[in-house]
Amino acid sequence: MLSPTVIYGSALLVFTWQFLEGLQEEKHTRVKRGAAPSNCYHSCPGGDGNCYFDNNINDFRCKCPCWSKYCGYLEENCNNRGTCVAMSGNTDFTCNNCIAGWKGKRCHLIDCDSGLYCTNEGVCVDDINGGTDYRCICKEGWTGKDCQFIDCSSPIRCMNEGQCHLQNGGKEFNCTCADGYLGDNCQIDMCSPYKIADIVFIIDVSDSQDRKVFDEQKNFVKYFIAQFPLGPDHFQFSLVLYASEPHAVFNLSNTYDNNTIIDAVDNVTIPDDIHGATFTDKALAFVKDHSFVTTNGGRADVDRYIIILTDGMSSKSIETVNQAKELRLSYPNIRIKSIGSGKYVFHKELLDICASLLNVFPQHGNDSVRSVQKSTMYGCKRCTKSYSDVAVAFDISSFNYGQLDAVLKTAEALITNLHTDNNQTRVSLSTYESVAEEVFEFDKYRTSYDMITAMNKHVQKRETCKKDGQCSRTNISSLLQDISSEFHLNSEKSRRKAVIIFSQFTFDKDSSEHVFREIQNLKDDGVFVVVVGEGPKANIDNMLKLSTTPFFTFIIGEDLNTPIEAILALLSTLEYDICFA
Ligand SMILES: *[C@@H]1O[C@H](CO)[C@@H](O)[C@H](O)[C@H]1NC(C)=O
Ligand SMILES: *[C@@H]1O[C@H](CO)[C@@H](O)[C@H](O)[C@H]1NC(C)=O
Ligand SMILES: *[C@@H]1O[C@H](CO)[C@@H](O)[C@H](O)[C@H]1NC(C)=O
Ligand SMILES: *[C@@H]1O[C@H](CO)[C@@H](O)[C@H](O)[C@H]1NC(C)=O
Ligand SMILES: *[C@@H]1O[C@H](CO)[C@@H](O)[C@H](O)[C@H]1NC(C)=O
Ligand SMILES: *[C@@H]1O[C@H](CO)[C@@H](O)[C@H](O)[C@H]1NC(C)=O
Ligand SMILES: *[C@@H]1O[C@H](CO)[C@@H](O)[C@H](O)[C@H]1NC(C)=O
Repeated sequence: MLSPTVIYGSALLVFTWQFLEGLQEEKHTRVKRGAAPSNCYHSCPGGDGNCYFDNNINDFRCKCPCWSKYCGYLEENCNNRGTCVAMSGNTDFTCNNCIAGWKGKRCHLIDCDSGLYCTNEGVCVDDINGGTDYRCICKEGWTGKDCQFIDCSSPIRCMNEGQCHLQNGGKEFNCTCADGYLGDNCQIDMCSPYKIADIVFIIDVSDSQDRKVFDEQKNFVKYFIAQFPLGPDHFQFSLVLYASEPHAVFNLSNTYDNNTIIDAVDNVTIPDDIHGATFTDKALAFVKDHSFVTTNGGRADVDRYIIILTDGMSSKSIETVNQAKELRLSYPNIRIKSIGSGKYVFHKELLDICASLLNVFPQHGNDSVRSVQKSTMYGCKRCTKSYSDVAVAFDISSFNYGQLDAVLKTAEALITNLHTDNNQTRVSLSTYESVAEEVFEFDKYRTSYDMITAMNKHVQKRETCKKDGQCSRTNISSLLQDISSEFHLNSEKSRRKAVIIFSQFTFDKDSSEHVFREIQNLKDDGVFVVVVGEGPKANIDNMLKLSTTPFFTFIIGEDLNTPIEAILALLSTLEYDICFA
């Protein structure tokens, strides 16, 4: 027995089914009634005029409002973008709740106000196909239907004939600037000064650097900062110390006035918890991730400099070089200046960090400051390249054949890279074996090639010195005297003077006194003293005592993993900028 409820329910179902079925069966067949163009079996809402032949179903149907017993495809009325609502006694309809970006009776019109069209501040215009489509008026530098792509041909991208490269599917770009231009868009003419840049100092305070070194580092940073106008529209500085860990003393956002920032540098002490090893890699990674970000005061379109003061002896040198590379790749046009700072300096790592010969400087002197001023606030016109008179001296007696060969190659690498034409850098050459001998004076040769040829011809061990004990007695004080008189006779006052002495610097007590005195005379005359030895036999203690600054002490040789090219760290000192404020 079925329950009454089930029977009732079944009856209802049958009824409903029949009703729907009936609708489906209903044909709005147009029958010819005389000449009238159309008619249907059933009248359509709004009249017979709304009956039409639908090729898709090969039959007649009504043009309907939202719902009607004659209408199929109800959703289509609102283009599938809204809810259809019947009006006027089912003879008309409207669409409610059009999805974002659409409006109009049938949700068929573009809604420019929705903000869904035209990115990157492009302006949306809905005048295409009667408002059913749109176009965008893009801001300069953008292109694409929605202004979503970089327009590399726009004059604001890679200005001054820089080359524009699209990245990330055309949504980003970078520039290869023409010579003399800098900036994310090559907008900065190196020859026209600009007074804005973000500069981060990174200072190595590991255990190899002592108190005295730290004070010198602070003095360097204070002098450096004092040369630049400060502020959010000008130069911003940040200071990061590191040893085993990095530590930000102040960030770019800590905008100090001239005096306060100098105070802040003066006040710096080395935090107890960062002592020890030299994790230069960590410091570089820290600066990459934190120092230039906007929350720490970094500005998007300004040039960025990193001034790293270190002795170049990091605990993980491969990681250091990798992190430096990542840092350079992370920010366009970032420039790293490596400043050799410490009791002994390992030039190779300094060169590797900044990846450019001309960006390695001694902490001594102001050349690094001038180089940043030149490429920022002074521009080319107020800075000129200056050149030195360089006296090269070989203490042949102190070297065996292999050592002499290595130091000759070193000198050759340096001279090759100097600008020697047109009275630029001038070179003289002297040797000492059993007697001091001047090979050529400053004015003798004008090309590196001629200098190197003469050097290789004259700097050789003599046959007689192989046996003759006299030749191995190192007393280079007479050599130094000759150099001193060469400077007095032939060097111009206005030029920087440097002597580069190739020797093992192993003197007996008597001659060492003379040597030190002669070196002091040279230093008193303002001559920069550079010393170069070969291999572990070179006397590093004497060398450090003789050279003007530890940066000017080079020990060349494979044992110490110092390539011959490390000598090129001298280039920025021998050919340097002077600026007129
Ligand atoms: C610039 O973009 C090109 C092309 O995508 C890429 O090869 C190059 O490495 C990019 N340069 C920089 C500095 O990001
Ligand atoms: C700060 O230094 C800049 C550049 O040396 C100078 O132009 C400016 O007048 C100084 N401001 C103050 C308050 O000393
Ligand atoms: C500087 O930035 C670092 C890293 O974001 C942060 O840890 C530190 O507190 C900031 N220092 C100052 C003085 O604002
Ligand atoms: C530097 O230290 C002095 C004395 O402790 C203090 O008065 C001053 O505020 C500090 N200056 C800065 C910029 O930290
Ligand atoms: C750096 O330059 C300033 C100003 O030109 C000068 O007073 C100072 O002595 C220079 N320092 C060195 C180490 O040459
Ligand atoms: C180079 O300098 C010397 C003297 O210092 C001078 O006689 C000579 O004319 C100069 N040469 C050039 C090309 O300037
Ligand atoms: C080294 O040479 C200087 C002069 O060139 C001379 O006065 C001195 O006596 C010499 N010293 C030795 C130990 O030979």
